[in-house]
Amino acid sequence: RKRIAVLISGTGSNMVALAKACEAADFPAEIVAVFSDKPDAVGLEKAKALGIATAAFARKDYSSKAEHEAAILAALDAVKPDLVCLAGYMRLLSGDFIRPYQGRILNIHPSLLPLFPGLHTHQRALDAGMKIAGCTVHFVTEGMDEGPVIAQAVVPILPNDTAEDLAARTLTVEHRTYPLTLKLVAEGQVAMGSDGRIVQTGSATNAHDT
Ligand code: GAR
Repeated sequence: RKRIAVLISGTGSNMVALAKACEAADFPAEIVAVFSDKPDAVGLEKAKALGIATAAFARKDYSSKAEHEAAILAALDAVKPDLVCLAGYMRLLSGDFIRPYQGRILNIHPSLLPLFPGLHTHQRALDAGMKIAGCTVHFVTEGMDEGPVIAQAVVPILPNDTAEDLAARTLTVEHRTYPLTLKLVAEGQVAMGSDGRIVQTGSATNAHDT
């Protein structure tokens, strides 16, 4: 089973969805640690309740972004993860952080990338008059919410939706899509090539197909 470290900043519902998937005997991954940049992240308590090792790294305890990232990187290296899943981790990772885990860091973003990267993604989709929205799981590269897309899932945007309505609807498909995508990557069916493009060895082209 592949060793997974999860980075969170908040509620951790995607982390819990990954952890639940990992409970299945035939799932090809296990979560070995959950790290947060927010010591009070609710998700840390959820991870502890699931018996997963946790640690928090408050940005204010470090004098620079580089030192903050170095501390998290050292903790990651100590648990020797095969893959790192960002699950509501709300900081942009530097190239120095990503390089040692090149092609091994996944992120979930609650929009159909490359549309609406960054913050306030749901309100921006509504403001643009979109009739569909969704989530994207991608390999992490240096840009914000960039990097090759592994899988996406779609939800409808309904009349009179608020950003909160859309966020909640999107989150329900995130909880299905992230575990399915992790499975594809953990099994080696999908990888990021040295040219930064998706290399696909399996037949699935969409998490819905798995
Ligand atoms: C999720 O919707 C996730 O896609 C989003 O934050 C939420 C975290 O919820 N991530 C981003 O916006 C990253 N750019 P969770 O903590 O309950 O998983």
